[in-house]
Amino acid sequence: MKDLFGRALLDYQNGNYTEDLITSTSISDEDVLPLPYLFRNYKDMPKLEQKALQLAKGQVLDVGCGSGSHSLYLQTKGLLVKAIDISKGAVEVAKLRGVSNTELKDLLDETQTFDTILLLMNGTGIFKKLSKVSKYLKHLKSLLKPNGQILVDSTDIKYMYEDENGGPDSYRDWIDAHSNYYGELDYYLSYNGEDGTPFKMLYLDFETLKAACETVGLKCELVLEGDHFDYLARLH
Ligand SMILES: C[S@@+](CC[C@H](N)C(=O)[O-])C[C@H]1O[C@@H](n2cnc3c(N)ncnc32)[C@H](O)[C@@H]1O
Repeated sequence: MKDLFGRALLDYQNGNYTEDLITSTSISDEDVLPLPYLFRNYKDMPKLEQKALQLAKGQVLDVGCGSGSHSLYLQTKGLLVKAIDISKGAVEVAKLRGVSNTELKDLLDETQTFDTILLLMNGTGIFKKLSKVSKYLKHLKSLLKPNGQILVDSTDIKYMYEDENGGPDSYRDWIDAHSNYYGELDYYLSYNGEDGTPFKMLYLDFETLKAACETVGLKCELVLEGDHFDYLARLH
């Protein structure tokens, strides 16, 4: 699989920033994902991410660390952090930026245990499809030390289906026409004129996440809501 995301991070890290990433999804047109955003520091992070970092304690696993922004902040605060990602470029960049413990690893292959597990910037995206949520949650639960916590953010994207008048008509049409969950999207990336391999991305509304947590014996509490249907949840 092409690692366009990692290549873009490496270019930015190495001072070769010329273009941003272009994203689009099965339900939305092209959008720009500015590379500097992927290197944000604490004060430029959304308040949900800042809150997650404030709540982090003990040994921390940063899942899908990207360039390592969250790991770096926590490391500087003196916490022991392990950062994992399936993007080779991302892991290389996190290392270059000074994250001491990084590994090229899929979440499902992680076996150590942690006091805090972070999944940030639509953390449920990694679960890909609603049908896979239980599998991921069970695995995440197995990585928790006693009294450990999982901090995850996502967005209820129902608003993206609303019609121009603000009504939920097109959302209802969509529900009628599809049997799968409305937060399951196909996601496309391109960088420097090259298209990446499309992948699945899951946006999960809080109630659905909470119900899934209950089936695997995790408690799910709403920590904070953002300005645009986004939220931070704490699972324990
Ligand atoms: C939206 S980016 C977020 C990056 C970073 N957390 C941030 O906030 O800037 C999602 C990251 O998750 C990684 N990822 C996707 N699936 C993964 C998996 N199963 N295990 C570990 N990392 C994964 C991707 O390679 C990507 O770097």
